[in-house]
Amino acid sequence: KRLTQYCQRLEELAPLGERPSLNVNFKHFLKLFTQYLENRSQSLTRDWVQIKPIPSDELPLYTSLSIVQSESFIPLLDKLVVVKLNGGLGTSMGCEGPKSLITVRNDMTFLDIVVKQIQYINSTYGSNIPLVLMNSFNTDQETKRIEERYKSRILFYTFCQSKYPRLEKETLLPLVSDITDHDISSWYPPGHGDFYQSYINSGLCDEFLKMGKEYLFISNIDNLGATVDLKILNYMHNQSNTSLGSKPCEFLMEVTDKTRSDVKGGTLVYDNGVKTLLEIAQVPKQYVDEFVSVHKFKIFNTNNLWVRMSAIKRLISNGSLHMEPIVNMKTLENGLKVIQLENAIGAAIKCFDGAVGLNVPRSRFLPVKTTSDLLSLLSDLYCLESSTGVIYMNPLRSFPSVPLVKLGYNHFGRLKEFLERFEDIPQMLELDHLTVSGDIRFGKNVTLKGTVIIIANPGERIDIPMGSTLENKVISGNLRV
Ligand code: UTP
Repeated sequence: KRLTQYCQRLEELAPLGERPSLNVNFKHFLKLFTQYLENRSQSLTRDWVQIKPIPSDELPLYTSLSIVQSESFIPLLDKLVVVKLNGGLGTSMGCEGPKSLITVRNDMTFLDIVVKQIQYINSTYGSNIPLVLMNSFNTDQETKRIEERYKSRILFYTFCQSKYPRLEKETLLPLVSDITDHDISSWYPPGHGDFYQSYINSGLCDEFLKMGKEYLFISNIDNLGATVDLKILNYMHNQSNTSLGSKPCEFLMEVTDKTRSDVKGGTLVYDNGVKTLLEIAQVPKQYVDEFVSVHKFKIFNTNNLWVRMSAIKRLISNGSLHMEPIVNMKTLENGLKVIQLENAIGAAIKCFDGAVGLNVPRSRFLPVKTTSDLLSLLSDLYCLESSTGVIYMNPLRSFPSVPLVKLGYNHFGRLKEFLERFEDIPQMLELDHLTVSGDIRFGKNVTLKGTVIIIANPGERIDIPMGSTLENKVISGNLRV
C-alpha cells in the first residue's frame, strides 16, 4: 500500500524531462525501494549456515604476482582508467566541503596527491591514464570550481552520481515536496554502489571503450595507499584474457589481512557457493563476534577494485547487476528520523564472471577517516615522496604495524580544533598505542613511544610541554609530566 502511495507521489513530483538534469533516477530508486520492502518482510541478514570464508589458497598473494616486463608497461597502462569515489563530505572530521579537498600533508589535499600520483606514472611511462571523479550533488560544484588546475596536468573527468529522496522512517514517504526542493537535507547520494549505473549514464564508459580503454581501477578518494599498480593490472589483464576454459576475470577486489582494529570492514565469503561481499549489517546478531574475529574471517575489503568496463556495460544493459540494499538510518538536525537506501560498490562482485580477491599488503589500504588517522599520516610514521605523491611507512620504524591511535572526538575530532591542539606533530616512530581524551595540548617537539594514555578530566586541561618524551606513560587528572 505504501509503495503504491509512494509511486503516485513520485509521479507527481516532476515532469519526466526535468529528471536527468536533476540527477534523480526514480526508476532505480524505486527498484531499491521495492527490494527494501521485499526484504523487510524477511530478514536483511544472511543465512549463516551458507556462509563460508574464502580459503586462503583462493586468494592469491600480491607478493606472488609476476613482475611486468618493461615492454608491456605502456600497452597495459593505455588500457586503464582511474576512478576515485568522491561523493563524500569531510563531515566526519568536522569539515564542510568535499573530503577530497581537505589538506592532508605537505599542503596537499587528497585530490592533489591523487593527481600527483597519476601524473608521475604518466610522465614516467609515457602513458595517458585519465582520472575520473564520481562526485555527488554534495561535492560536484566545489570540485568543479578547482578542476581547471588539474586539467593541464592530466586527462581529468568528473560525473555526478544519482540523487535520491530521503524517506521519513515512520511513514516511508519522501521528505521532498517537490523535485526542485533545494533543501539538501531532503536528498542523499545513494552510496558508492550507484557508481555502475551513474557511470554508464554519464556516457564516459562508451567514450573510454571507444578510446580502447578496458579496465577501471576504482577506489575511495581517502585511501592514499590506492595507487596504480602495474603488477595488479598485469594480473587482471592476464586473467581477463585467459584461454584455459575458465571464465575470464571481470572483477578483482583487493583484500588485506584483518587486524583487531578492522572490525567494521566487509569481508569476501562464499554464500551458498557464490563469491560475495559480507557486511557486518548482514550478519545475524548471534554471529557478530565470529564475523569480527580475525580467526575465521581473516581478510577484509579495501574497496580497491579493478573492473572490466565491457562487463559493466553488459550487466547494466541486460539488467543483471544486483546489489543488496543497505539501510542507513539517520537523525536529521531537526530530530526527524530518516532512512537512506544505499548500495555498496563491492557487493556487485557476485554478478561479474571470474571475480577474484587478491590479498594485498596493508600499505595499499591507508584511509583517512578520522583525525586519529590524520595524526598518524602527518607524523614521521609516514613519508610522502613529493615528486611521486606516493606515501609509505617510514622504513626507520622497526615493526610493520601501524599504532592504534584514539583521539577523543569532543576535543580532537574536528580538523580545525585538532590542528590548534598540536604546536607541531609529535614524533611517533616508536609508538604502539595512543589514547588522548579531554582538553589536552601538545607543545613542540614531543616524542611518543610505546603505549601512551593521556586523559584530562572534565574541566581540567593538560599541557604536554615542549621537548617532552612520553614512553609507556599514563597521564591523567592533575598529574603533570
Ligand atoms: P564511505 O563514506 O562509504 O566510507 O565512503 P566508509 O564509511 O569508510 O565506508 P566504506 O567501508 O569505505 O564503504 C567511501 C568512499 O566512497 C565515496 C566517498 O567519497 C569515499 O571516497 N562515496 C560514498 C561516494 O562517492 N558516494 C556515496 O554515495 C558514498
